[in-house]
Amino acid sequence: MTLGSLGRQHAEPTSVVTRWRSRRSRRQHQGVADNYFDEWIALRYRILWPHLFSPEVVDPAVAFLADLAGTGPALELGIGTGRLALPLSRRGISIHGIELSSAMVEQLRAQPGADEIDVTIGDFATTKVAGTFRLAYLVRNTIMNLTTQDAQVECFRNVAAHLDPGGRFAIEVVVPPWQRLQPGETIVPFQVRPDHLGFDKIDVATQNSWSHHYWFVDGEMKNFSAPFRYVWPSELDLMARLAGMQLRERWSSWDRDAFTSDDRSHISVWEKVD
Ligand SMILES: C[S@@+](CC[C@H](N)C(=O)[O-])C[C@H]1O[C@@H](n2cnc3c(N)ncnc32)[C@H](O)[C@@H]1O
Repeated sequence: MTLGSLGRQHAEPTSVVTRWRSRRSRRQHQGVADNYFDEWIALRYRILWPHLFSPEVVDPAVAFLADLAGTGPALELGIGTGRLALPLSRRGISIHGIELSSAMVEQLRAQPGADEIDVTIGDFATTKVAGTFRLAYLVRNTIMNLTTQDAQVECFRNVAAHLDPGGRFAIEVVVPPWQRLQPGETIVPFQVRPDHLGFDKIDVATQNSWSHHYWFVDGEMKNFSAPFRYVWPSELDLMARLAGMQLRERWSSWDRDAFTSDDRSHISVWEKVD
């Protein structure tokens, strides 16, 4: 799938079921990440995922990250439309973003305060930016957009190369949902609403999955499908060790609630130790 194809599909008459799919993650295996966040998604990011913008979600995340960043600077991987970067910047923290999708950055640039934020277009697993940072962060399961273990390891190494000594790397990501799979099943629904159906189709052996969304927007049904790679908390800790970092904190929420075996996601923070 390309985001361009999504835009073309949107021009079709209403009631047409539009679909766009990736050319798998072939390009990522060749070292170039695919961009799924095209103009259609970028323009509707806030409408499609409204809960992400509620103060109950944004405020504790911003408070947590601001606490880690101190006086900054901070690096956001996959900065998107600046959902967290803009409020962090308004707190006086200097933010640099890395982002694959220029359409998402265009939406960031359209908002007040965006001039204070630098963005480099590129793949956060490999893209280098000038300077070092007190904090790097990667939220909303976006580590899983890197669909190979190698790419995820490379991302940790890239982050470590951008951190000050003692700098922190924070990730927000789901736990692989194997507990929700009956033996032999591969489908896990994550959203069942009249205007949005979403489910993952999972290959437990490879930890790879496809997320399928079906939205009913502007009188049309839109399908968005993208590949992911699930990653275990312990696996992330090992990736951090390979990159010279060690675990400092792991919570089930931005409010620092304890992480238990019942939790479906975690926020983890590693510190650069060498
Ligand atoms: C779920 S959105 C999150 C955006 C923003 N961080 C937020 O919290 O709203 C994921 C973002 O990461 C970007 N992204 C995905 N894979 C990427 C990669 N390999 N390199 C750079 N950006 C990437 C997407 O284009 C998208 O803007």
